[in-house]
Amino acid sequence: MINDYSVQNIEELISKITQQGFAAIDDFLPISTALGLAAEISALNVSALLQDAGTGRLHQMVNKNLRGDLIYWLNEADATHAQRAYFTQMEILRLALNQALYLGLFALESHLALYPAGAAYKKHIDRFKSINDGKPLRQISAVLYLNPDWHDDDGGHLRLYMNGDSDSEYLDILPIGSRLVVFLSDTFYHEVLPASRDRMSLTAWFLTR
Ligand code: OGA
Ligand code: MN
Repeated sequence: MINDYSVQNIEELISKITQQGFAAIDDFLPISTALGLAAEISALNVSALLQDAGTGRLHQMVNKNLRGDLIYWLNEADATHAQRAYFTQMEILRLALNQALYLGLFALESHLALYPAGAAYKKHIDRFKSINDGKPLRQISAVLYLNPDWHDDDGGHLRLYMNGDSDSEYLDILPIGSRLVVFLSDTFYHEVLPASRDRMSLTAWFLTR
């Protein structure tokens, strides 16, 4: 079961998520679109428009030891061409998830991310089950990778833990361009392993009430 995460289409993706809480699909977007998004990250970086990612509930604490990425929050209202292609696919995914799982997903929050070579994101969970203060909650995490020609020895795997916060069993997923990994935000601890090259992604969360 543990290596059985890769699926061919959205329908299969949904059924895998239903069965095991996570799944990955390759070629979620045309590779040219993924590369376009990667180029946007490079341009934002050159213009110093990427910000240090925060951690914690208010995303205020910047702790490079815990999390070394630089991010840029997307706003659908002024999306670029490549971002619009992404939002269109994510809307298809949102509707399919709602239909199959009755999750009441109503919005998406998303950011581009750059992990400079050597940067990591230590083991964490995207949402704690106990949090319920009336604000929208992250229900589904979806990470789209944007790295051209990425190979096993480049590192930067997403390590997805199978048994809560225990280290006993995990799956390492290679962040290859146009691969989308989807998992339940309140169930899967995960971490980003350091890479030997700059690692780029578009990370998003479907929100529920
Ligand atoms: C995150 C995260 C995973 C990845 O941004 O919360 O866990 O593979 N990202 O980039
Ligand atoms: Mn995360």
